Amino acid sequence: MTRPAFDYVDGVLHAEGVSAVSLAEQFGTPLYVYSRAALTEAWNAYASACAGRRASVHVAVKANSNLAVLNVFARLGAGFDIVSGGELARVLAAGGKAENTVFSGVGKHANEMREALAAGVKCFNVESIPELDRLNAVAAQMGKKAPVSLRVNPDVDAKTHPYISTGLKSNKFGVAFDEARATYQAAAAMANLEVVGIDCHIGSQITEVAPYLDAVDKLLELVEQIEQDGMTIRHIDVGGGLGITYDDETPPDISDFVRTVLDRIEARGHGHREVYFEPGRSLVGNAGVLLTRVEFLKPGAEKNFAIVDAAMNDLARPAMYEAYHAIDAVVQRELPAHVYDVVGPVCESGDWLGRERLLAVEPGDLLAIRSAGAYGFVMSSNYNTRPRAAEVMVDGTQAHVVRAREEVQQLFAGETVLPE
Ligand code: LLP
Repeated sequence: MTRPAFDYVDGVLHAEGVSAVSLAEQFGTPLYVYSRAALTEAWNAYASACAGRRASVHVAVKANSNLAVLNVFARLGAGFDIVSGGELARVLAAGGKAENTVFSGVGKHANEMREALAAGVKCFNVESIPELDRLNAVAAQMGKKAPVSLRVNPDVDAKTHPYISTGLKSNKFGVAFDEARATYQAAAAMANLEVVGIDCHIGSQITEVAPYLDAVDKLLELVEQIEQDGMTIRHIDVGGGLGITYDDETPPDISDFVRTVLDRIEARGHGHREVYFEPGRSLVGNAGVLLTRVEFLKPGAEKNFAIVDAAMNDLARPAMYEAYHAIDAVVQRELPAHVYDVVGPVCESGDWLGRERLLAVEPGDLLAIRSAGAYGFVMSSNYNTRPRAAEVMVDGTQAHVVRAREEVQQLFAGETVLPE
Protein backbone atom coordinates (compact mmCIF):
# COMPACT_ATOMS: atom_id res chain seq x y z
CA MET A 1 0.00 0.00 0.00
CA THR A 2 1.42 3.39 -0.90
CA ARG A 3 -0.43 5.17 1.90
CA PRO A 4 -1.78 3.91 5.21
CA ALA A 5 -5.29 2.43 5.11
CA PHE A 6 -6.47 4.94 7.71
CA ASP A 7 -5.09 8.37 6.91
CA TYR A 8 -6.07 12.04 6.81
CA VAL A 9 -7.17 13.68 3.57
CA ASP A 10 -7.66 17.46 3.91
CA GLY A 11 -7.90 17.14 7.68
CA VAL A 12 -10.49 14.33 7.67
CA LEU A 13 -9.67 10.73 8.56
CA HIS A 14 -10.40 8.33 5.73
CA ALA A 15 -10.63 4.55 5.55
CA GLU A 16 -9.01 3.91 2.18
CA GLY A 17 -11.08 6.16 -0.14
CA VAL A 18 -14.02 6.78 2.18
CA SER A 19 -14.32 9.58 4.74
CA ALA A 20 -14.91 8.43 8.30
CA VAL A 21 -17.40 11.29 8.69
CA SER A 22 -19.56 9.87 5.93
CA LEU A 23 -19.24 6.34 7.35
CA ALA A 24 -20.49 7.55 10.74
CA GLU A 25 -23.34 9.51 9.14
CA GLN A 26 -24.40 6.60 7.00
CA PHE A 27 -24.04 3.73 9.46
CA GLY A 28 -24.11 5.38 12.90
CA THR A 29 -21.74 5.02 15.84
CA PRO A 30 -20.16 3.15 17.55
CA LEU A 31 -18.93 1.60 14.31
CA TYR A 32 -16.15 -0.86 13.59
CA VAL A 33 -14.48 -0.08 10.27
CA TYR A 34 -12.11 -2.50 8.55
CA SER A 35 -9.92 -1.96 5.52
CA ARG A 36 -9.74 -4.75 2.98
CA ALA A 37 -6.46 -3.36 1.66
CA ALA A 38 -4.88 -3.44 5.13
CA LEU A 39 -6.03 -7.04 5.69
CA THR A 40 -4.62 -8.00 2.31
CA GLU A 41 -1.35 -6.22 2.91
CA ALA A 42 -0.78 -7.99 6.24
CA TRP A 43 -1.67 -11.34 4.68
CA ASN A 44 0.72 -10.71 1.80
CA ALA A 45 3.55 -9.97 4.24
CA TYR A 46 3.11 -13.46 5.70
CA ALA A 47 2.44 -15.14 2.36
CA SER A 48 5.39 -13.61 0.53
CA ALA A 49 7.80 -14.66 3.27
CA CYS A 50 6.38 -18.20 3.14
CA ALA A 51 6.49 -18.42 -0.67
CA GLY A 52 8.79 -21.18 -1.86
CA ARG A 53 9.25 -22.44 1.70
CA ARG A 54 7.51 -25.33 3.41
CA ALA A 55 5.30 -23.02 5.46
CA SER A 56 1.65 -22.10 5.73
CA VAL A 57 -0.42 -19.52 7.57
CA HIS A 58 -3.53 -20.24 9.63
CA VAL A 59 -5.49 -17.14 10.55
CA ALA A 60 -6.42 -17.16 14.26
CA VAL A 61 -10.18 -16.72 13.98
CA LYS A 62 -10.53 -15.58 17.59
CA ALA A 63 -8.91 -12.22 16.80
CA ASN A 64 -11.66 -11.24 14.35
CA SER A 65 -14.28 -13.72 13.28
CA ASN A 66 -16.48 -11.53 11.06
CA LEU A 67 -17.44 -13.58 7.99
CA ALA A 68 -16.31 -10.88 5.58
CA VAL A 69 -12.89 -10.70 7.25
CA LEU A 70 -12.52 -14.49 7.16
CA ASN A 71 -13.72 -14.52 3.56
CA VAL A 72 -11.07 -11.97 2.50
CA PHE A 73 -8.44 -14.34 3.91
CA ALA A 74 -10.11 -17.46 2.48
CA ARG A 75 -10.05 -15.90 -0.99
CA LEU A 76 -6.33 -15.26 -0.50
CA GLY A 77 -5.84 -18.97 0.20
CA ALA A 78 -5.54 -18.81 4.00
CA GLY A 79 -5.80 -21.65 6.43
CA PHE A 80 -7.47 -21.06 9.80
CA ASP A 81 -6.85 -21.71 13.48
CA ILE A 82 -10.05 -22.26 15.46
CA VAL A 83 -10.81 -22.77 19.15
CA SER A 84 -14.47 -23.82 19.08
CA GLY A 85 -17.15 -25.52 17.04
CA GLY A 86 -18.64 -22.06 16.53
CA GLU A 87 -15.44 -20.82 14.91
CA LEU A 88 -15.40 -23.91 12.66
CA ALA A 89 -18.93 -23.07 11.51
CA ARG A 90 -17.82 -19.50 10.76
CA VAL A 91 -14.78 -20.67 8.76
CA LEU A 92 -16.95 -22.96 6.64
CA ALA A 93 -19.62 -20.27 6.19
CA ALA A 94 -16.92 -17.83 5.07
CA GLY A 95 -15.57 -20.16 2.39
CA GLY A 96 -12.61 -21.55 4.35
CA LYS A 97 -11.66 -25.20 4.08
CA ALA A 98 -11.69 -27.67 6.97
CA GLU A 99 -8.65 -29.42 5.54
CA ASN A 100 -6.70 -26.18 5.99
CA THR A 101 -7.95 -25.66 9.53
CA VAL A 102 -6.25 -26.54 12.80
CA PHE A 103 -8.27 -26.88 16.00
CA SER A 104 -6.62 -25.39 19.11
CA GLY A 105 -7.94 -24.85 22.63
CA VAL A 106 -7.60 -26.33 26.08
CA GLY A 107 -11.15 -27.61 26.64
CA LYS A 108 -12.67 -29.08 23.48
CA HIS A 109 -16.11 -30.59 23.99
CA ALA A 110 -16.78 -34.07 22.55
CA ASN A 111 -19.41 -32.57 20.23
CA GLU A 112 -16.91 -30.06 18.93
CA MET A 113 -14.42 -32.87 18.31
CA ARG A 114 -17.11 -34.81 16.43
CA GLU A 115 -18.00 -31.84 14.23
CA ALA A 116 -14.37 -31.15 13.47
CA LEU A 117 -13.61 -34.79 12.65
CA ALA A 118 -16.68 -35.02 10.43
CA ALA A 119 -15.66 -31.82 8.62
CA GLY A 120 -12.11 -33.18 8.21
CA VAL A 121 -9.91 -30.64 9.97
CA LYS A 122 -6.18 -30.83 9.32
CA CYS A 123 -5.05 -31.29 12.90
CA PHE A 124 -6.18 -31.18 16.53
CA ASN A 125 -3.76 -29.30 18.76
CA VAL A 126 -4.19 -31.30 21.96
CA GLU A 127 -3.22 -30.01 25.39
CA SER A 128 -3.53 -32.93 27.86
CA ILE A 129 -3.82 -36.70 28.27
CA PRO A 130 -7.52 -36.55 29.19
CA GLU A 131 -8.09 -34.61 25.98
CA LEU A 132 -6.18 -37.29 24.00
CA ASP A 133 -8.39 -39.92 25.62
CA ARG A 134 -11.56 -38.05 24.71
CA LEU A 135 -10.47 -37.47 21.12
CA ASN A 136 -9.43 -41.11 20.74
CA ALA A 137 -12.85 -42.24 22.01
CA VAL A 138 -14.74 -39.87 19.71
CA ALA A 139 -12.64 -40.92 16.71
CA ALA A 140 -13.21 -44.61 17.56
CA GLN A 141 -16.99 -44.09 17.66
CA MET A 142 -16.78 -42.49 14.23
CA GLY A 143 -14.42 -45.14 12.84
CA LYS A 144 -11.82 -42.46 12.10
CA LYS A 145 -8.24 -41.63 12.97
CA ALA A 146 -7.78 -38.11 14.32
CA PRO A 147 -4.63 -36.22 13.28
CA VAL A 148 -3.00 -34.74 16.39
CA SER A 149 -0.18 -32.56 17.49
CA LEU A 150 0.53 -31.74 21.11
CA ARG A 151 0.65 -28.18 22.24
CA VAL A 152 3.85 -28.19 24.20
CA ASN A 153 4.56 -25.53 26.74
CA PRO A 154 8.19 -24.58 26.12
CA ASP A 155 8.38 -22.49 29.32
CA VAL A 156 9.79 -19.39 27.67
CA ASP A 157 9.03 -15.86 28.76
CA ALA A 158 7.34 -13.98 25.93
CA LYS A 159 7.74 -10.72 27.91
CA THR A 160 4.18 -9.61 27.38
CA HIS A 161 1.17 -8.82 29.60
CA PRO A 162 0.59 -11.63 32.14
CA TYR A 163 -3.01 -12.12 30.92
CA ILE A 164 -1.86 -12.82 27.38
CA SER A 165 1.34 -14.73 28.09
CA THR A 166 0.69 -18.41 27.61
CA GLY A 167 4.01 -20.27 27.34
CA LEU A 168 5.08 -20.23 30.99
CA LYS A 169 4.88 -23.17 33.40
CA SER A 170 2.37 -21.21 35.45
CA ASN A 171 -0.14 -20.99 32.55
CA LYS A 172 -3.07 -23.36 32.07
CA PHE A 173 -1.99 -24.02 28.50
CA GLY A 174 -0.12 -26.88 26.87
CA VAL A 175 1.63 -30.04 27.97
CA ALA A 176 4.59 -29.35 30.29
CA PHE A 177 7.86 -29.61 28.41
CA ASP A 178 9.20 -32.31 30.73
CA GLU A 179 6.10 -34.45 30.23
CA ALA A 180 5.82 -33.98 26.49
CA ARG A 181 7.85 -37.01 25.38
CA ALA A 182 5.80 -39.39 27.54
CA THR A 183 2.57 -37.74 26.40
CA TYR A 184 3.57 -38.31 22.77
CA GLN A 185 4.20 -41.98 23.60
CA ALA A 186 0.71 -42.14 25.14
CA ALA A 187 -0.78 -40.58 21.99
CA ALA A 188 1.07 -43.02 19.74
CA ALA A 189 -0.41 -45.92 21.72
CA MET A 190 -3.99 -44.76 21.07
CA ALA A 191 -5.49 -46.66 18.14
CA ASN A 192 -7.61 -43.83 16.75
CA LEU A 193 -5.03 -41.06 16.87
CA GLU A 194 -2.31 -40.31 14.39
CA VAL A 195 0.55 -38.12 15.59
CA VAL A 196 1.35 -35.65 12.82
CA GLY A 197 2.97 -32.61 14.38
CA ILE A 198 4.01 -30.47 17.30
CA ASP A 199 2.57 -27.14 18.37
CA CYS A 200 3.19 -24.24 20.71
CA HIS A 201 1.85 -20.76 21.34
CA ILE A 202 3.84 -18.68 23.77
CA GLY A 203 1.68 -15.59 24.10
CA SER A 204 0.30 -12.58 22.31
CA GLN A 205 1.49 -9.05 21.48
CA ILE A 206 5.09 -10.30 21.45
CA THR A 207 7.41 -7.60 20.15
CA GLU A 208 10.68 -9.53 19.93
CA VAL A 209 11.71 -12.54 17.90
CA ALA A 210 14.04 -14.01 20.56
CA PRO A 211 11.31 -15.80 22.57
CA TYR A 212 10.18 -17.56 19.38
CA LEU A 213 13.70 -18.75 18.64
CA ASP A 214 14.03 -20.06 22.20
CA ALA A 215 10.71 -21.88 21.81
CA VAL A 216 11.69 -23.31 18.41
CA ASP A 217 14.99 -24.60 19.80
CA LYS A 218 13.18 -26.39 22.60
CA LEU A 219 10.57 -27.86 20.26
CA LEU A 220 13.22 -29.17 17.87
CA GLU A 221 15.04 -30.87 20.73
CA LEU A 222 11.78 -32.62 21.55
CA VAL A 223 11.02 -33.47 17.91
CA GLU A 224 14.30 -35.40 17.73
CA GLN A 225 13.39 -37.38 20.85
CA ILE A 226 9.87 -38.10 19.60
CA GLU A 227 11.20 -39.39 16.31
CA GLN A 228 13.65 -41.64 18.18
CA ASP A 229 10.52 -43.09 19.75
CA GLY A 230 9.23 -44.04 16.30
CA MET A 231 6.76 -41.24 15.50
CA THR A 232 6.97 -38.90 12.51
CA ILE A 233 6.56 -35.18 13.07
CA ARG A 234 5.48 -33.73 9.74
CA HIS A 235 4.79 -30.19 10.88
CA ILE A 236 5.91 -27.68 13.48
CA ASP A 237 3.29 -25.11 14.49
CA VAL A 238 4.96 -22.08 16.06
CA GLY A 239 1.64 -20.48 17.06
CA GLY A 240 0.68 -16.85 16.73
CA GLY A 241 1.47 -13.91 18.92
CA LEU A 242 3.40 -11.41 16.84
CA GLY A 243 2.71 -7.94 18.21
CA ILE A 244 1.63 -4.73 16.49
CA THR A 245 2.23 -1.04 17.09
CA TYR A 246 -0.48 0.40 19.32
CA ASP A 247 1.67 3.22 20.67
CA ASP A 248 5.46 3.16 20.41
CA GLU A 249 6.11 -0.59 20.26
CA THR A 250 8.50 -1.71 17.54
CA PRO A 251 7.62 -5.33 16.74
CA PRO A 252 9.61 -7.10 14.04
CA ASP A 253 8.33 -6.68 10.53
CA ILE A 254 6.08 -9.64 9.61
CA SER A 255 8.20 -10.91 6.73
CA ASP A 256 11.47 -10.61 8.70
CA PHE A 257 9.87 -12.48 11.58
CA VAL A 258 8.68 -15.33 9.34
CA ARG A 259 12.03 -15.62 7.58
CA THR A 260 13.98 -15.59 10.84
CA VAL A 261 11.89 -18.42 12.27
CA LEU A 262 12.04 -20.49 9.06
CA ASP A 263 15.79 -19.92 8.74
CA ARG A 264 16.36 -21.11 12.29
CA ILE A 265 14.36 -24.30 11.71
CA GLU A 266 16.23 -24.94 8.47
CA ALA A 267 19.64 -24.21 10.05
CA ARG A 268 18.91 -26.77 12.76
CA GLY A 269 18.36 -29.44 10.08
CA HIS A 270 14.54 -29.49 10.18
CA GLY A 271 13.83 -27.71 6.88
CA HIS A 272 11.99 -30.76 5.49
CA ARG A 273 9.12 -30.22 7.92
CA GLU A 274 6.17 -27.95 7.18
CA VAL A 275 6.01 -24.90 9.47
CA TYR A 276 2.63 -23.46 10.48
CA PHE A 277 2.03 -19.92 11.71
CA GLU A 278 -1.19 -18.97 13.57
CA PRO A 279 -1.30 -15.16 13.56
CA GLY A 280 -4.31 -13.17 14.64
CA ARG A 281 -3.52 -9.68 15.87
CA SER A 282 -0.75 -8.97 13.36
CA LEU A 283 -3.16 -9.69 10.48
CA VAL A 284 -6.17 -7.73 11.64
CA GLY A 285 -5.23 -5.40 14.52
CA ASN A 286 -4.24 -2.34 12.54
CA ALA A 287 -6.74 -3.08 9.79
CA GLY A 288 -9.60 -1.79 11.95
CA VAL A 289 -10.71 1.28 13.89
CA LEU A 290 -13.69 1.93 16.14
CA LEU A 291 -15.51 5.17 15.37
CA THR A 292 -17.33 6.83 18.25
CA ARG A 293 -19.05 10.17 18.78
CA VAL A 294 -18.44 12.55 21.68
CA GLU A 295 -21.67 12.91 23.68
CA PHE A 296 -20.53 15.31 26.38
CA LEU A 297 -17.42 17.03 27.62
CA LYS A 298 -17.48 16.96 31.38
CA PRO A 299 -14.91 19.04 33.24
CA GLY A 300 -13.96 17.66 36.66
CA ALA A 301 -11.97 18.84 39.67
CA GLU A 302 -9.10 16.52 38.85
CA LYS A 303 -9.87 15.32 35.36
CA ASN A 304 -11.79 16.24 32.27
CA PHE A 305 -13.90 13.54 30.71
CA ALA A 306 -14.90 13.07 27.11
CA ILE A 307 -17.98 10.86 27.35
CA VAL A 308 -18.41 8.99 24.07
CA ASP A 309 -21.00 6.60 22.69
CA ALA A 310 -18.67 3.57 22.64
CA ALA A 311 -17.94 1.76 25.87
CA MET A 312 -16.18 -1.17 27.49
CA ASN A 313 -18.86 -3.46 26.08
CA ASP A 314 -17.76 -2.42 22.57
CA LEU A 315 -13.99 -2.50 23.19
CA ALA A 316 -13.04 -4.41 26.32
CA ARG A 317 -9.25 -4.28 26.01
CA PRO A 318 -8.60 -1.06 27.99
CA ALA A 319 -10.83 -2.16 30.90
CA MET A 320 -9.55 -5.71 30.80
CA TYR A 321 -5.81 -5.32 30.23
CA GLU A 322 -5.28 -1.58 30.66
CA ALA A 323 -4.47 -1.77 26.96
CA TYR A 324 -3.52 1.39 25.12
CA HIS A 325 -5.36 2.33 21.93
CA ALA A 326 -4.45 5.57 20.19
CA ILE A 327 -7.45 7.91 19.89
CA ASP A 328 -7.63 10.63 17.25
CA ALA A 329 -10.18 13.25 16.32
CA VAL A 330 -11.67 12.26 12.97
CA VAL A 331 -11.75 15.91 11.85
CA GLN A 332 -8.66 17.94 12.66
CA ARG A 333 -9.98 21.24 14.01
CA GLU A 334 -8.51 24.56 15.06
CA LEU A 335 -9.74 24.33 18.64
CA PRO A 336 -7.88 24.56 21.93
CA ALA A 337 -6.82 21.04 22.89
CA HIS A 338 -7.46 19.69 26.38
CA VAL A 339 -6.49 16.52 28.21
CA TYR A 340 -9.40 14.11 28.62
CA ASP A 341 -10.09 10.65 29.88
CA VAL A 342 -12.17 9.10 27.11
CA VAL A 343 -14.93 7.11 28.79
CA GLY A 344 -18.17 5.37 27.81
CA PRO A 345 -21.72 5.44 29.16
CA VAL A 346 -21.50 2.10 31.01
CA CYS A 347 -22.04 2.29 34.77
CA GLU A 348 -18.56 1.20 35.86
CA SER A 349 -15.49 3.22 36.74
CA GLY A 350 -13.59 0.65 34.70
CA ASP A 351 -15.43 1.81 31.59
CA TRP A 352 -12.68 3.79 29.93
CA LEU A 353 -11.19 3.69 26.46
CA GLY A 354 -8.22 6.02 26.84
CA ARG A 355 -6.67 8.00 29.67
CA GLU A 356 -5.13 11.46 29.58
CA ARG A 357 -5.46 12.08 25.88
CA LEU A 358 -4.86 15.49 24.35
CA LEU A 359 -7.81 16.16 22.07
CA ALA A 360 -9.25 19.17 20.25
CA VAL A 361 -12.91 18.22 20.20
CA GLU A 362 -16.42 19.46 20.89
CA PRO A 363 -19.57 17.49 21.67
CA GLY A 364 -20.82 15.82 18.51
CA ASP A 365 -17.33 15.32 17.10
CA LEU A 366 -16.10 11.90 16.03
CA LEU A 367 -13.15 10.02 17.45
CA ALA A 368 -11.31 7.07 15.93
CA ILE A 369 -10.03 4.46 18.35
CA ARG A 370 -7.14 2.91 16.51
CA SER A 371 -5.84 -0.66 16.27
CA ALA A 372 -9.27 -2.07 17.04
CA GLY A 373 -9.37 -4.78 14.38
CA ALA A 374 -8.10 -7.52 16.70
CA TYR A 375 -9.92 -8.61 19.86
CA GLY A 376 -12.31 -5.69 19.41
CA PHE A 377 -15.76 -6.66 18.17
CA VAL A 378 -15.16 -10.34 19.04
CA MET A 379 -14.81 -9.48 22.72
CA SER A 380 -17.74 -7.10 22.77
CA SER A 381 -20.79 -7.83 24.91
CA ASN A 382 -24.30 -6.61 25.57
CA TYR A 383 -23.53 -5.33 29.08
CA ASN A 384 -26.00 -2.63 30.11
CA THR A 385 -28.28 -4.01 27.35
CA ARG A 386 -26.26 -2.18 24.75
CA PRO A 387 -26.73 -3.54 21.23
CA ARG A 388 -23.41 -4.45 19.67
CA ALA A 389 -21.91 -2.09 17.11
CA ALA A 390 -22.23 -2.46 13.36
CA GLU A 391 -19.18 -3.53 11.34
CA VAL A 392 -18.28 -2.10 7.96
CA MET A 393 -15.57 -3.10 5.52
CA VAL A 394 -14.16 -0.52 3.17
CA ASP A 395 -12.82 -1.67 -0.17
CA GLY A 396 -11.39 1.26 -2.13
CA THR A 397 -14.20 3.79 -2.43
CA GLN A 398 -16.94 1.33 -1.41
CA ALA A 399 -18.17 0.68 2.12
CA HIS A 400 -20.02 -2.57 2.82
CA VAL A 401 -21.96 -3.32 5.99
CA VAL A 402 -20.58 -6.69 7.06
CA ARG A 403 -22.58 -6.90 10.27
CA ALA A 404 -25.75 -5.00 10.94
CA ARG A 405 -26.08 -3.07 14.18
CA GLU A 406 -27.98 -5.12 16.76
CA GLU A 407 -31.50 -4.08 17.72
CA VAL A 408 -32.52 -3.95 21.39
CA GLN A 409 -35.33 -6.49 20.77
CA GLN A 410 -32.80 -9.05 19.57
CA LEU A 411 -31.04 -8.85 22.91
CA PHE A 412 -33.87 -10.40 24.91
CA ALA A 413 -35.63 -12.32 22.15
CA GLY A 414 -34.57 -15.62 23.74
CA GLU A 415 -35.72 -14.67 27.26
CA THR A 416 -39.04 -15.57 28.90
CA VAL A 417 -40.77 -14.74 32.17
CA LEU A 418 -42.13 -17.36 34.57
CA PRO A 419 -45.74 -18.54 34.09
CA GLU A 420 -48.52 -16.76 36.09
N1 LLP B 1 -2.99 -19.51 18.44
C1 LLP B 1 -3.42 -19.75 19.69
C2 LLP B 1 -3.42 -21.14 20.19
C3 LLP B 1 -3.84 -18.69 20.51
O1 LLP B 1 -4.22 -18.94 21.75
C4 LLP B 1 -3.82 -17.36 20.01
C5 LLP B 1 -4.27 -16.25 20.83
C6 LLP B 1 -3.39 -17.16 18.69
C7 LLP B 1 -2.97 -18.25 17.93
C8 LLP B 1 -3.35 -15.81 18.06
O2 LLP B 1 -2.48 -14.96 18.74
P1 LLP B 1 -2.18 -13.48 18.17
O3 LLP B 1 -1.39 -13.63 16.90
O4 LLP B 1 -3.49 -12.80 17.93
O5 LLP B 1 -1.40 -12.84 19.25
N2 LLP B 1 -7.65 -10.99 23.99
C9 LLP B 1 -6.23 -10.70 24.11
C10 LLP B 1 -5.38 -11.63 23.30
C11 LLP B 1 -5.59 -13.09 23.62
C12 LLP B 1 -4.80 -14.00 22.74
C13 LLP B 1 -5.16 -15.42 22.97
N3 LLP B 1 -4.54 -16.37 22.08
C14 LLP B 1 -6.01 -9.23 23.73
O6 LLP B 1 -6.97 -8.53 23.45
O7 LLP B 1 -4.88 -8.76 23.75
